[in-house]
Amino acid sequence: MTEAPKLNSFRNGPDERGHFGQFGGRFVAETLMPLILSLEQAYKEARVDPAFHKEMGGHLVHYVGRPSPLYFAERLTEHLGGAKIYLKREELNHTGSHKVNNVLGQIMLARRMGKPRIIAETGAGQHGVATATLCARFGLKCVVYMGAVDVERQQANVFRMKMLGAEVIPVQSGSKTLKDAMNEALRDWVTNVHDTFYCIGTVAGPHPYPAMVRDFQSIIGRETREQMMAAEGRLPDSLIACIGGGSNAMGLFHPFLDDAGVEIFGVEAAGHGLSGLHAASIAGGRPGVLHGNRTYLLMDADGQIEEAHSISAGLDYPGIGPEHSWLHDVGRVTYLSATDEEALEAFQLLSRLEGIIPALEPAHAIARVIELAPKLPRDHLMVVNLSGRGDKDVPQVSEIFESRGR
Ligand SMILES: Cc1ncc(COP(=O)(O)O)c(C=O)c1O
Repeated sequence: MTEAPKLNSFRNGPDERGHFGQFGGRFVAETLMPLILSLEQAYKEARVDPAFHKEMGGHLVHYVGRPSPLYFAERLTEHLGGAKIYLKREELNHTGSHKVNNVLGQIMLARRMGKPRIIAETGAGQHGVATATLCARFGLKCVVYMGAVDVERQQANVFRMKMLGAEVIPVQSGSKTLKDAMNEALRDWVTNVHDTFYCIGTVAGPHPYPAMVRDFQSIIGRETREQMMAAEGRLPDSLIACIGGGSNAMGLFHPFLDDAGVEIFGVEAAGHGLSGLHAASIAGGRPGVLHGNRTYLLMDADGQIEEAHSISAGLDYPGIGPEHSWLHDVGRVTYLSATDEEALEAFQLLSRLEGIIPALEPAHAIARVIELAPKLPRDHLMVVNLSGRGDKDVPQVSEIFESRGR
């Protein structure tokens, strides 16, 4: 038997059919196949088209507000007494999170493909807001599917989407969260392939979405490399980011995957704890197929998808992007988790020490920083991806703190 050739890079994936090892792929309805293939072709062409990059670069600077700063969190570093902590400030982007980087790329592709109607699914509402924003900017029709539970807990973002001219459709099926919103969006897409572009919000879905979204988000890691070289004259020692589907994390990680000296951590949502309700697909799941790709999923003994839970609507997904599943299996990235309670503590600590109110999603990453940093030497350089700001979470968190008399 001939041995499979060894990969010489962690950055080469996926293969032609969209596989990262045993993960990824393209499990879709026959009706979608022609559209997926034409999307793949459009993306292949755009990737090597200087005009596409020039136009996108202009929007990233003048509309999104890039580059986002790499900020030395001096007081957090002092407080924890170990590693030197830098925050990659994706929360300063227009619309308040990293989601806009990817949406811009996909909307530009939709325009190239002549698709006037955009659909999206959203959990916390950040991806929905980013999509509604860019549809307004380019005069496209926008429909956003959102679980009814998320509509309830992220009302500010629902108002924002409506103000931007989008139609928000509350999804009443299943657990009424992100997974169900994605099911509904896929159903819409099958019915309306002729004029509709599905703008997926994370590194999941059928090939080419996981690779395409990763590429659009990789600007986070590329800027971080340059900014860290400028600030410290060397690469960081570690990177850490929260994981819903995994797009902010993949965007930060990907440009560093071949730098053996850079340790990389992804943080899943452990909800009430890994033995209770949670959303940690790698820590508590196993490989299966959902939303067009094979990946780690939360499933019961019969293979039915289980409900995920996280205090943070953006992490409340029973799966993870297929490239993360592969990076876990090959051991390049270490996947940790943080509970709802730990995220709340981190939310408060960052707010009080740095004057930065983080979204509940990256608060999960900060929670693990609180544990890891004190054990590391003072010359250890750690970058945390601050994927979004906490404005959207303030009503939810203040209710929790008030009920506890804090
Ligand atoms: C601020 C923020 N961070 C992180 C996430 C999680 O998504 P991903 O893992 O794709 O970055 C979300 C999702 O809504 C979000 O709004």
